[in-house]
Amino acid sequence: MNADPPPPDDQLDQALASILTARKYRSMHPGLVRDIAAAELAKGRTLKEAVKAAKSQLHQSAAAYVRRNLDYDDALRQLQTTVTAANRGPGSDPSTDPTVRTLLRQLMSAHASTHERLPILDTLHPQLFQRLPPVRSVLDIACGLHPLSRPWMPLPPDVPYFSYDIYSDQIDFLNHFFDAMGYAGAAQQCNVLDRMSTPPADVAFLLKTLPCLEQIETGAGQRLLHQIDAPILIVSFPNHTLAGRKQGMAQHYTANFLSQIKKAGWQADSLSYPSELVYIVQKN
Ligand SMILES: C[S@@+](CC[C@H](N)C(=O)[O-])C[C@H]1O[C@@H](n2cnc3c(N)ncnc32)[C@H](O)[C@@H]1O
Repeated sequence: MNADPPPPDDQLDQALASILTARKYRSMHPGLVRDIAAAELAKGRTLKEAVKAAKSQLHQSAAAYVRRNLDYDDALRQLQTTVTAANRGPGSDPSTDPTVRTLLRQLMSAHASTHERLPILDTLHPQLFQRLPPVRSVLDIACGLHPLSRPWMPLPPDVPYFSYDIYSDQIDFLNHFFDAMGYAGAAQQCNVLDRMSTPPADVAFLLKTLPCLEQIETGAGQRLLHQIDAPILIVSFPNHTLAGRKQGMAQHYTANFLSQIKKAGWQADSLSYPSELVYIVQKN
């Protein structure tokens, strides 16, 4: 006699275990992996099909952006050595030290979003912050390795910078980075689709993030824009896909985004770069 199929919870546990075993997914936020696997099983898929579909979803919204797996222990050793040397130099400011900046550029090239931002790193943040009132606190939602560009932001080191993403190893590294550089702030592993509570801040970055979140949950972007407790949101959209195709994607996402801004009665100003369209949104 055939055994009864396992109850759904068992299937979900098996799906979760199977996904988190793979190197590519093992440091992802287990709650997000579980939610995605549960949604796939709820469509009536078999365990195998649900695992495959969940992996594909997690790939598209996060793993596809990993260009190179960083050895975070090695990266931290290099960072600490470089910062220690910079602190011995004249003026001793690791944020402006060329060797520290070169290392941070190398590290940022491991993630597709920061990699394609490297050519505009020297101009983006000065141009952006010039348009903002004094900034006393920052949120970085679905941050990837963007916090590593903190030295390019014209902000004193004691301005707190709170960043959030799903990878535990990346988050640990970012916390060590803040410590090593003497920056206030912290990184936290979280699924930003949960009803997360972030501290209030003057500015929140949502760089190239809304399309990834919309892939997981339709309407998530709009909900997040309202939920984040910051009067100014810096929201950007990529001008092309990861594969380099234009496909009118910026137009598609920005049209939807701008209609949400209009509906909310907010103001938006923009900065355009070859790789990225950046909006500065003033919530009223
Ligand atoms: C296109 S990348 C943008 C990274 C960064 N904001 C930047 O522009 O450099 C999207 C990021 O969203 C993160 N992500 C995807 N789903 C998420 C979720 N549910 N909660 C938190 N972060 C998420 C991914 O891990 C990835 O780092």
